[in-house]
Amino acid sequence: MQNVILRGKKTIREIDVRGKRVLVRADFNVPLDEDGAIADDTRIRASLPTIRYLCERDARVILCSHLDRPKGVVEERLRLALVANRLSVLLDRPVVTLQDCIGPEVESAVAAMNGGDIVLLENLRFHPEERAGDPAFAENLASLAEIYVNDAFGASHRAHASVVGVPEHLPAVAGLLLEKEVDAFTRILENPERPFAAVIGGAKVSDKLEVLENIIPRVDALIIGGGMAATFLASRGYGTGASHVETDRLDAVRKLEERATELGVRLLLPRDVVVAERLEAGVPVRVVSATEIPDGWVIADIGPEAADEFSRELGGARTVVWNGPMGVFEIPEFAEGTRRVAASLANLSGTTVIGGGSTTDAVQRFGLADQMTHVSTGGGAALTMLAGKPLPGVTSLDDAGTP
Ligand code: 3PG
Repeated sequence: MQNVILRGKKTIREIDVRGKRVLVRADFNVPLDEDGAIADDTRIRASLPTIRYLCERDARVILCSHLDRPKGVVEERLRLALVANRLSVLLDRPVVTLQDCIGPEVESAVAAMNGGDIVLLENLRFHPEERAGDPAFAENLASLAEIYVNDAFGASHRAHASVVGVPEHLPAVAGLLLEKEVDAFTRILENPERPFAAVIGGAKVSDKLEVLENIIPRVDALIIGGGMAATFLASRGYGTGASHVETDRLDAVRKLEERATELGVRLLLPRDVVVAERLEAGVPVRVVSATEIPDGWVIADIGPEAADEFSRELGGARTVVWNGPMGVFEIPEFAEGTRRVAASLANLSGTTVIGGGSTTDAVQRFGLADQMTHVSTGGGAALTMLAGKPLPGVTSLDDAGTP
C-alpha cells in the first residue's frame, strides 16, 4: 500500500524496526458484555496487520492501550489479560501480560524479550498520569522502547501521555491502521469522486455542528436524520411533538441551511418520521409527515418515504460518508431507517466511509460492514477528522524524511 495521504508524517514502513524494541500504542478499548467478556473484537482484529508486520521483522513488540475509563486506579474487570488472550488466539502466538505498564517488573520483562516476542502492558488508565498527559509518566513508558508506533486511531484525538508524550522521546511513526484510517477520511474530504453525499444523524445536533460546518462546502448533498432532525424541523418553524429540540442551536442550524442554499448543496430532511410515545420497545408507534408530528410524540426513526428518498439520492452518489444513525436502531421497531441507509451504501459501487461509533455498530449489526469501503474504528477521532481538525496523535509523529 502506498502512503498517499498521511503525507508529511513518517510511517512504520519508513523506519528500520528489525530486532528493535517497539512500543505500539493500540486502541484495545473494546466493548465488554455483562459477564465482562469481549463483546466485539473489531478493534483487536484491526491492530493485527501492524503487530504481524513487526513480528515478521523480529521486532520485540511492546503493546499498550487503555480499556474503558478507570479513574486512575486498578479495576480488576478492566485488566488487559482478556485482550491478550484474544490477541494470542488471533495471532496464534503467545502474548504475555504484565501487571503494570511502568516500573521495575515491566522493565525486567521487556529486557528479557527476544525478537518476535509480544508483551501487552497493563491498562494505561490505571495511572491518572495517562489522561493528565504527565511528562514523567510518558518518559517512563518511552524508556521501555527504541521506537514508538501510534496505531491507536480511536485514541488519537486525546492528548494523553501515551499518545502525545511518548513521541517526544522516541522516533515516532504511524502504524498501518492509523495510516489507513487517516487516509480514508482525508481522501474523501480533500478529493472525493462526485457526486459526494454526507449522511449525518444521531441524537444531538450540538455533537455534529463542527462536522456539518466542515462538510457542507465539500458535498453535493447533505442528508439529515436521527433525533437531531428535530432541531432542523423546529428551525423551519414546524412542531416536533415531544422530540428533543436544542433551542440554543436553532440559529446555528438556520445558518447551516443558508450556507447549503448559497453553495447549491441539496439538504434533505426526512419527509416522514416514525414517532413513538416513548423511545422504548413495545410502545405504540405511528408514521406521520415530518411537518405534522403530534403533541406528546417523539421522533424515533425516519419514515418509509424518507428512506426511499434518501436511498434514491445515495444511489446516484460516487462517494458517501455516514456518521450517526437515522433512529434508535438498537430497538428493532426503530431500526428500519438506519438499515435502509446501510443497505443503500452496501449497494453502492463508489466509495463508502462509515464514520465510527454507533454508525459502525449499526453496519456491523446489519451484517453489512464488509460491503463498505472503510468502516472506522474511531468514534471521537472520526468526528475530529470529519470536523477538519488535526489529531494530536498524528501531529506528534515524526515528519517524513527526518532521519
Ligand atoms: C473510543 O472508544 O472512542 C476511544 O477508545 C477513546 O476512548 P475515550 O473516549 O474513553 O478516550
